Amino acid sequence: MSEDASAKKELAAVRGTRDILPGEVEKWQALEGLARTTFELYGFRELRAPVFEPTELFEKGTGATSDVVTKEMYTFIDKGGRSLTLRPEYTPSVVRAIVEHRLDLEGTPMRYYYMGPMFRYDKPQKGRYRQFHQVDIEVFGEKDAAVDAEIIEMAHTLLGKLGVTGTETLVNSVGCRACRPAYSAALREAAGKRKSELCADCQRKAEANPLRIFDCKVEACQAVARSFPIIQDFLCAECRDHFSALLACLDVFKIPYRVDPRLVRGLDYYTKTTFEIVFSHLGAQNALLGGGRYDDMMKDFGGPDICGTGFAMGIERVLATAALDPPKRKMLYLAYLGDEAKKVGLELARYFRTNGVECLVEYKDRGMKAHFGRANKLQASWVLIVGENELKSGRFGLKDMATGRQSEGTPADLLTRLLSG
Ligand code: HAM
Repeated sequence: MSEDASAKKELAAVRGTRDILPGEVEKWQALEGLARTTFELYGFRELRAPVFEPTELFEKGTGATSDVVTKEMYTFIDKGGRSLTLRPEYTPSVVRAIVEHRLDLEGTPMRYYYMGPMFRYDKPQKGRYRQFHQVDIEVFGEKDAAVDAEIIEMAHTLLGKLGVTGTETLVNSVGCRACRPAYSAALREAAGKRKSELCADCQRKAEANPLRIFDCKVEACQAVARSFPIIQDFLCAECRDHFSALLACLDVFKIPYRVDPRLVRGLDYYTKTTFEIVFSHLGAQNALLGGGRYDDMMKDFGGPDICGTGFAMGIERVLATAALDPPKRKMLYLAYLGDEAKKVGLELARYFRTNGVECLVEYKDRGMKAHFGRANKLQASWVLIVGENELKSGRFGLKDMATGRQSEGTPADLLTRLLSG
C-alpha cells in the first residue's frame, strides 16, 4: 500500500460507524421531524440524557447477563479513574434521570421521547452498526395493558407516515418476578438435558440465566431452544390477564399481530409485555423496533416503585425500508461581479434570508459563466444577478434555473416572485 493510501485508511471512519452526508441526511431530518410530531400528538415530551453514563447503570439496568452488557459495551476508564460506558441503549438513562431529578413528583404518568446515537461493539453487518441511532419512547406510571397497545399503535402510525409497509408485529409476555423463577427452572432443566448440543456461551447461560439462550444466533442452539417449554404455560394470573388485555386492545386498534412465545428480547429488564415490529426483507437484522414493559427498573435503581414501558426504533433499519421523498430545498445563488456588487449582494442576501429565502453567497472571484456553472452544480433554483448595470439601475436580475426564464425587478419585486414559486 502506498504511503498516501495507508494514510487515507488510517483516517477513515471507524468500522461500524458511518457518515451521513448531504443527500442522505434529508431523509434523517424527515424521519426525525415525523417522529417528533407523531410523539407529541400522543403527549410525549423530549428528554435528553448524556451519551456516556457510569458503567454500573447498564450493568444494573440493561442486565448483567445480557449480551449487550457482557460482550458489546464501549467501556473505558476516564482520567478520574471512573468506569464509564457509551450508552448501548437509552432506557436506563431515562430511568436514572427521573430518579435523579425526581420527575415523578411533578405527577405521573410521564411520557418521554428521545433520538440519538447508541453504541454496541457487535460484528458490523448490513443493518448492524457499532454506532447506530435510535428513536426511543418511554411511558412511566401506567400499569394498564392499554398503554402497551397504544405505543404499538403509535409505532405503526409512525411507520405508516414513513411509508414502511409489509411489517409483522410480534408480541409475547415474559412474566414477572413472581412467575418467571418457575419458568427459568423449567428452562434450566430442559437446557441441562441437552447441554452438550449448546455452544459454550449457552452452556454458561444455562446456569446464569437460561432465558438468554433464546438470544443466541447459533443455529444449533436455536434448534435446541425450539424444544424448550414456552412461557405462556407458566404465567401467573396477573401476567396472563395483562397479556389478554394487551391482545384485546390491539384488536381494538385493528393491529394484526403474531404471538411469538420465544420473543424474550435480549435485555434483562423486561416484565410482562415484549414486542417487536419486524420486516422480513431486511435479512438477519430484521427488527425495525423492539420494546416492552419493565416494571421493576425504577425501584431497583433506588427510586420510587413506578412501572415503565416503551420501545426503541433503529433509524438506519427503518430508513432502509422507508419510502421517504423529502421535498427538494429551494435555494437562491448570488452571482456578483466585482467588489461593489459584492457589497450590495451581501445586503441583498441578508434581505432575502430575513424574509425566509435560502440564499448562498460564495466569496470567489468568478465570472458570470462560472457563477452559472456553479449554481447548476449546486442545483440552485434561482440565480440573483448583481452586475454593473444592476448596481446603476437598482433593478436586479433573477434567473429561474428550471425554466431558464430571466426577469428583473427591485428587491421587493424579486422577493414576491421568489416566495410565490
Ligand atoms: P433493542 O431491541 O436492543 O431495544 O434495540 C431497538 C432497536 O434498535 C432494534 O430493533 C434495532 O432496530 C435497533 N438496533 C439495535 N442494535 C442495533 C445495531 N447494532 N445496529 C443498528 N440498529 C440496531 C432497546 O434498545 C430497548 N432500549 C428498547 C426499549 C425501550 N425497551 C423498552 N423501552
